[in-house]
Amino acid sequence: RQAITVPHLQIMREKAEKIAALTCYDASFAALLDQAGVDVLLIGDSLGNVIQGHATTLPVTVADIAYHTACVARSQSRALIVADLPFGSYATPSEAFANAVTLMRAGAQMVKLEGGMWLSDIVRFLVERSIPVCAHIGLTPQSVHALGGFKVQGKTGAAAKQLLCDAQALQQAGAQLLVIEAVPTALGAQLTDALLIPTIGIGAGPDCSGQVLVLYDLLGVSTGKRPRFAKNFVSEQARQASNQPILQAAVEAYVHEVKMGVFPAAEHTF
Ligand code: KIV
Ligand code: NA
Repeated sequence: RQAITVPHLQIMREKAEKIAALTCYDASFAALLDQAGVDVLLIGDSLGNVIQGHATTLPVTVADIAYHTACVARSQSRALIVADLPFGSYATPSEAFANAVTLMRAGAQMVKLEGGMWLSDIVRFLVERSIPVCAHIGLTPQSVHALGGFKVQGKTGAAAKQLLCDAQALQQAGAQLLVIEAVPTALGAQLTDALLIPTIGIGAGPDCSGQVLVLYDLLGVSTGKRPRFAKNFVSEQARQASNQPILQAAVEAYVHEVKMGVFPAAEHTF
């Protein structure tokens, strides 16, 4: 079980071997995802939504990401550990560096930040100081108020061209991975073709070098509405098996057995 490194992701891209990434926020799931062969564990600021219950990722702090990164890192995974720099934590190169160092000390092996070519100096500053960087373009949730909502990006020719320029600039600045969120499939393919570094899509079609999902969306335990790009793999499995949402059914069975006095049974008692 060779650990996944940043150069390894580049080799995967060159061999057209798809990269499977998922968000992860704790040690138990880190072990489970690692066992299942996930290549990249992302401590996403989506934890603001799925763990903390916020409507956006804006309230998430560096300390929050560092805490969850340390939880994930303790599981000693084969997967590469990538941590999000949260909103407001990379306005200047020196701020970005100080906050990235905090995340690297917590166990991150790469940091991710959201934005286009304006980030080039910051990306370069980090990369020169030995901090591998993943950039994130398209629908960038930290910009939800600037974008006017969670909307598909790059739909016009001009917007697509801008994203191509952004992607090239970020690669040029030293980014070694690029997350592309919520863009038309054709643009996801075009961005991937235009770059040498691997691309990881979320709502960017099947032609990216890999895919990422929010773990809770995959498990169907998210509150609120499921984005179009997400897929509940638990209900998919359940439909094939018993037509029951597995996690919910498990909790319902627990409640039922407690109410009926069936659990705990002899085998669970001393
Ligand atoms: O925070 C997050 O979960 C992310 C991924 C969805 C790309 O940034
Ligand atoms: Na994020």
